[in-house]
Amino acid sequence: MRIESLLSEITLELSSAGISNARQEACWLVSQLLGDDPIGVPCCGGAEFPSALEATLRERVSRRKSGEPLQYIMGEVDFHCVNLLVGPGVLIPRPETEQLVELALSHLALDGPIVDLCTGSGAIALALSASRPARTIFGTDISADALSWAFRNRDRLNASNVTFLQGDLFQPLPPGLLFALITANPPYVSQDEYDQLDPTVKDHEPIMALLAQDNGLQIIRAIAKEAKTRLLPDGWLVMEIGETQGEKVRQILLAENYSLVDIKKDYSGRDRFAFAKH
Ligand SMILES: C[S@@+](CC[C@H](N)C(=O)[O-])C[C@H]1O[C@@H](n2cnc3c(N)ncnc32)[C@H](O)[C@@H]1O
Repeated sequence: MRIESLLSEITLELSSAGISNARQEACWLVSQLLGDDPIGVPCCGGAEFPSALEATLRERVSRRKSGEPLQYIMGEVDFHCVNLLVGPGVLIPRPETEQLVELALSHLALDGPIVDLCTGSGAIALALSASRPARTIFGTDISADALSWAFRNRDRLNASNVTFLQGDLFQPLPPGLLFALITANPPYVSQDEYDQLDPTVKDHEPIMALLAQDNGLQIIRAIAKEAKTRLLPDGWLVMEIGETQGEKVRQILLAENYSLVDIKKDYSGRDRFAFAKH
């Protein structure tokens, strides 16, 4: 079958299944199998799609139609300056978290180790490592499933300065070690918000990566408390938060006596990032 006919057919199928950017997703699915750049795919529409790959393509389209996230099906996602493997058991890194990496890098004047709490696929830790390959970087996560992706990503990216450890927040880290920078994209979705999430997210991505008790604030509170004792003087805590949590998180951080607290907006103008200086 010609690529252009296949693309039209898949686009129609995906859009009938309610997928909004169906044409782009069709290009991504086709281009990944061809090993091509997705932008180039429509330009070679007159060429034949290899018949040996058609069954695989159709199986992937049918998974996507049934609501599985595209990134799980493709098995990879670009994040900041790294390409990461992802699949069931780990949160798919979101574009807004790339901004957290940028903001974290701009708060890294101090020498010393870095820790990324709630590291999941290792997205933040590995993006920081790509920019600061000489830094000692730790990543912790409570989920063995999530960390299995982080280990694969670290090996694939040869990020030998990154160590991933399993456990609750700071618990698996060397006792007494103080950090120049603590980053975290913790679970911060309240039960009400969780109930309303899109099924593509709720039915596939791990609940442990999303939902937090205490109206989404439980883990943020725990991080705010312990980070104060784990930062070097002048070190920074940089956290992603939910868009409705800015004022509450500001109060939580102020109550822990940080010397400076700030809430910053994402590119869409929503409160998204909390900063606290030791
Ligand atoms: C929102 S995801 C963030 C993943 C990754 N940092 C990212 O930005 O794509 C939150 C992660 O926190 C982990 N997590 C949940 N509770 C935790 C805890 N008490 N201690 C450590 N990690 C935890 C989950 O397993 C999940 O991987």
